[in-house]
Amino acid sequence: QKQKTILDFQRMKAEGEKIAVLTSYDFPMTGIMDACGIDMILVGDSVGVVVAGYDNTLPVTMEDMIYHTRAVMRARPKAFVVADLPFLSYQTDLKSARLNAGLLVKDGGAAAVKLEGGVNVAETISAITDMDVPVMGHIGLTPQSLHRMGGFKVQGKGEEQAEKLMADALAVERAGAFAVVLEGIPMSLAQKITAELTIPTIGIGAGPHCDGQVLVIHDILGLCSKYSPKFVKRYAELAPLIGEACSNYIAEVKGGTFPEERHGFK
Ligand code: KIV
Ligand code: NA
Repeated sequence: QKQKTILDFQRMKAEGEKIAVLTSYDFPMTGIMDACGIDMILVGDSVGVVVAGYDNTLPVTMEDMIYHTRAVMRARPKAFVVADLPFLSYQTDLKSARLNAGLLVKDGGAAAVKLEGGVNVAETISAITDMDVPVMGHIGLTPQSLHRMGGFKVQGKGEEQAEKLMADALAVERAGAFAVVLEGIPMSLAQKITAELTIPTIGIGAGPHCDGQVLVIHDILGLCSKYSPKFVKRYAELAPLIGEACSNYIAEVKGGTFPEERHGFK
C-alpha cells in the first residue's frame, strides 16, 4: 500500500475510480480500516456526537480535534487524513482560521483540513490553501449550521436552493479546495455538481453519483443505536455483540468463573 495524497483523488476522479472515505477518531479503528485499504480518513467533528455524546457538533473544541487527530496518526495510516475545523475555529477571522488549520497539521499531524460552507467561506478556504494546507469543502447539510437550518434537514430542494448550492460548490472549487463533501442534498443535484466540478465530490446522503462516499464509522458498525438516518447502511450490528460480551463478563465475575487459574500468575 502506497501513501495516499491529494494527487490520487484527482486521478481517481479522472479515471472514474470511486473514493471510499470513513471517519475515525482513534488508534485501533484507524489501524483496522487502513489495513482494508480505505482511501481517506476523516477525523470528523462528529466525534462530539458519536464519541463524546453531545447532541450536535457545536461544542467540539480545537483541543478535542488535535487529541483525536494525534490518536489517528499514531496508527501511521496510508490513507490521506483530513481533520475537521470545529465550530468557531475558522468563522471569526482569517488569521485564526489559518492558525487553527495550521495547528491541525502541525500538532495533530493531519495532511488536510475540512471546513463547512460555500460562498461565505471562499475567502477562508483561499487563506488556508495559500499556506499550502489542502482544504476539503463541505456544503449542503452542514451540521455546524444546525440553528440556521432549523434542524438536520435535506438542503438544496427547489430550483432557487439548488442554484445556491451549485454556486457554493463552484466557489469552493475556485477558492482552491481539493475536494468537497456534499451532505444531505437531492441525488440529482449531487450528480449535476459532480459533473460540473473538476475536483472530486464526496457524498453523504447525496446519492450514488458522487466521486466518492463518506460515512461515520460508528454508524456503519451499528454502534449508535439511538437512530439511523436513511442514508446510512449498517455493515455490522456491533452494539448487541458488545452487550453480549459485557453480559458474559459480568455473569462470570459474579459467578466466580472468571478469572480461571490460567489467567493468573504463578
Ligand atoms: O464530522 C463528520 O463526520 C463529517 C462527515 C460526516 C462528512 O463532517
Ligand atoms: Na464534520
